[in-house]
Amino acid sequence: MSRIAYVNGRYLPLAEAAVHIEDRGFQFADAVYDVIEVRGGRLVEDERHLARLGRSLGELRIATPMTVSALGVVIREVVRRNHVRDGLAYVQVTRGVAPRDHAFPVPSVRPTLVVTARRSKPAVKIKGEAGITVVTVPETRWARVDIKTVSLLPNVLARQAAREAGANEAWFVGADGLVNEGSSSNAWIVTAAGELVTAPTTAMILRGVTRAVLLEVAATQGLTLVERRFSVAEALAAREAFITSATSLVTPVLSIDGAPVGNGGPGATAATLRAALIARTRVAPAWGGPVAQGSGIG
Ligand code: PDD
Repeated sequence: MSRIAYVNGRYLPLAEAAVHIEDRGFQFADAVYDVIEVRGGRLVEDERHLARLGRSLGELRIATPMTVSALGVVIREVVRRNHVRDGLAYVQVTRGVAPRDHAFPVPSVRPTLVVTARRSKPAVKIKGEAGITVVTVPETRWARVDIKTVSLLPNVLARQAAREAGANEAWFVGADGLVNEGSSSNAWIVTAAGELVTAPTTAMILRGVTRAVLLEVAATQGLTLVERRFSVAEALAAREAFITSATSLVTPVLSIDGAPVGNGGPGATAATLRAALIARTRVAPAWGGPVAQGSGIG
């Protein structure tokens, strides 16, 4: 089965789906994206992801390519056409196509919208329970990591460093020795005193949707929540560490830079929170309406 992508109003086989070489997403990484989990054919927390996408667009003054509800229709249609039951949907919006010039095009151009969906790798699910390993890297990103831009080179290099060290994720550590977040996930610890600790939204982090939902879930579990950054030494002395993201949900961290966290196995709190998150997550109704072919900016 060939995969289908939505590009600027058309649903196309992946091999035929393309954007212009003068697209500012390609030329300048002048683009934002979001990633939504698909579970049982339905979108998980799509409202929050689309709200964050709207915020990212607003912060960069990129025009909204279509209404949120129309975008929801397109995403569901891409999920449906790709027969994705469990996987991920990606939305990418660039400032559009214009002759190369750093400043915004005048007059403004239509944004480029690309939506794709794919099944998740079984390995991701297995690791979700078994756990992952982490290496630390110096924080090298720009100050606006709260915007979910496709400008991900530091994240790419961090993840490659992890891979070359035989690890799964990299944690960005600030000059002050405190952890910000992972290359594509938020970072958490459960301290020996039983506190659940993750960086506040004022820190150099992306405001993870999974992070926000998990904070709500954890509050109902009677856990003490503390939004502050933590050091690597503190994480190693912690009872547990874990990451959160739309792709990993709650995934235990077994070691950091080769040193074990806690007893070096997946922790009980991470397992409880993962189960509670899965049980609680709001899932949008499956799309059953008319096909959105040609809608939007095509
Ligand atoms: N990444 N921090 C960073 C830098 C991220 O890229 C992500 C998500 C998160 C977690 O956010 P959320 O819980 O909303 O997925 C935190 C996605 C999954 C990606 O780039 O593939």
